[in-house]
Amino acid sequence: MIKVGLLGFGFMGAAHYKIYQNLPDVQVSGIFDVDPEKVRRGNIAGGNIGDGGEQPDLSGVKVTGKAEELINDSDIDVIDICLPTFVHAEVAVKALNAGRHVFCEKPMALDPGECDRMLGARDRSGKNLMIGHCVRFWPEYALTRQMIREKRYGEVNSAFFRRLSPTPSWSYGSWLLQEEKSGGALLDLHIHDIDYILNVFGQVSGVSSFARQNAVTDRSGVDYVLTRYATESPALIVAEGGWHFHDSFPFNMSFLISCEKATLEFDAGREKTLAVHTGEGRTEYPSHSPATGWDEELKYFVNCVMEGKSVDLSPPEESKTAVEVALMEREAIRTGKAVTFA
Ligand SMILES: NC(=O)c1ccc[n+]([C@@H]2O[C@H](COP(=O)([O-])OP(=O)(O)OC[C@H]3O[C@@H](n4cnc5c(N)ncnc54)[C@H](O)[C@@H]3O)[C@@H](O)[C@H]2O)c1
Repeated sequence: MIKVGLLGFGFMGAAHYKIYQNLPDVQVSGIFDVDPEKVRRGNIAGGNIGDGGEQPDLSGVKVTGKAEELINDSDIDVIDICLPTFVHAEVAVKALNAGRHVFCEKPMALDPGECDRMLGARDRSGKNLMIGHCVRFWPEYALTRQMIREKRYGEVNSAFFRRLSPTPSWSYGSWLLQEEKSGGALLDLHIHDIDYILNVFGQVSGVSSFARQNAVTDRSGVDYVLTRYATESPALIVAEGGWHFHDSFPFNMSFLISCEKATLEFDAGREKTLAVHTGEGRTEYPSHSPATGWDEELKYFVNCVMEGKSVDLSPPEESKTAVEVALMEREAIRTGKAVTFA
């Protein structure tokens, strides 16, 4: 039995809790939140995918306002961090130092130095650290990666990724709209596509980015970004991300990838989410698991912990690179010039 201490019970914490309830041999032993009363009252935060849903059954689960009670509990195997991004590094380092395995929501942290502190603590502890880059585990994205890697439809000519959200007003105290706490839409939302691009196309050598800043996020926070990525692939690779859209706008998570022999189209809002349009005038809808990337990533992580394996499908070193690429984009936006990897 793997025992989990869940830190943060907002949108993502509640989603993780529900997934753990359905995983065999996993038990959430305790939940920490700065506002434990809110957790006990059952106020589940909304989010961009799903509305938070029903309050899960928390009977038998300790709810505490002191994170240390879970971090220092030697009966707990895994600390799962679903807290605002600006505390990820500090809390992950404490948990690793205390001998716990750590699953931490994306983005890994707000800058590469914080990521390095987390990696150093992981190395010293010998425990697992994995960041919740769920898109590489999302069944349609995983299947598409496989098609691209095995060149089922030839080389990729162009790839366009889109992630658009209503303004995340649901976050606790609106922390997502404070640039120094969340990194804005660049680090919080758009980084999902950065991680997938790195995962599929390999190292990004440069970016050209254009943005709208400070429409809904404070300071110079990025609300909307369009980036072209230079990689080893000759494909034109572009991603669009933004969260300045209005409440009734449906969350959009999609891609359009054109290969030599087929166009691969994904739209999370459609009934048949993944389509393959081939040169023979046919459209096929490949079958895939109905699970979400959140289900798949947590199942994978728990399995790695149980079997004493490292998290090779999503190493935290690659999650750090995603943060670095996001910061390259921020620099390209600031300077108005293309930025290459140092
Ligand atoms: N993988 C995904 O698809 C996905 C989706 C949404 C959020 N996230 C990530 O999950 C993390 C949490 O986001 P969320 O949407 O659940 O936010 P949220 O605001 O809904 O929840 C955060 C929780 O942490 C608690 N909290 C707030 N400030 C705190 C502080 N200073 N110290 C400790 N606890 C505090 C709040 O009470 C709240 O319950 C973020 O890193 C976010 O980027 C990932």
